[in-house]
Amino acid sequence: MLKAIIFDLDGVICSTDEYHYLAWKAMADDLGVYFDRTINNRLRGVSRMASLDIVLERYEGPALSEERKLSLAAQKNELYRSLLARMSPEDLSDEVKTTLAALRARGLKLAIGSSSKNTPFILSRLGLGDYFDAISDGNNIVRSKPDPEVFLRAAEYLGEAPSDCLVVEDAVSGAEAGHRGGFQVACVGDASLAGAGDWNLTSFSALLQVAESFDCPPAATAKPAGVAANPYLPL
Ligand code: G6P
Ligand code: MG
Repeated sequence: MLKAIIFDLDGVICSTDEYHYLAWKAMADDLGVYFDRTINNRLRGVSRMASLDIVLERYEGPALSEERKLSLAAQKNELYRSLLARMSPEDLSDEVKTTLAALRARGLKLAIGSSSKNTPFILSRLGLGDYFDAISDGNNIVRSKPDPEVFLRAAEYLGEAPSDCLVVEDAVSGAEAGHRGGFQVACVGDASLAGAGDWNLTSFSALLQVAESFDCPPAATAKPAGVAANPYLPL
């Protein structure tokens, strides 16, 4: 039975890719390291320090101490937050807003499961500071996706079993985290294109059809329009 939905934040509820790109690019330029949007795409769902390690794959200078790495990550985050500060409730799309409201109207609990330590700031910029029933983020976990910790914590905060929760993700590592935690997973964006979910959606609003499909007996459940069946799972 579906009782709750746990949403990843970046790339699912809102788009912060460009802000991440600009902030990492500025830091990399300062350090003289090559960085582009293709590398930025690899940072989706990856924690800040693990992202820094990916950015530094192209670094050829003298070894960097842990302290220096922390300061580089802080430099990136400072610029990133100054860009996030430009966000407002207008950056929340009508599609996301109405879909969340419709899912809640079905009696589903709604939560966030994000690796970002900036989750509270982003939600408050979007006007969603008090909206979700639970928030699990980079501030309450020690292991990043694809470890399931962030989603398991969200389910615990909601008081629901993972098997009764649907995880919504745009990153393949996030979809893997959901599956490893025993959740069903609906994907959008990159992860959907990669076929990483149990449902691979072409739009956020298709989540309504996914939620409806839980009300039907499994044998009668056809994948609705806009929802591609996962080619890697048995029907
Ligand atoms: C999300 C984003 C990643 C980001 C991570 C940590 O998972 O998809 O790109 O690196 O959060 O974000 P933070 O805001 O804590 O630096
Ligand atoms: Mg994401």
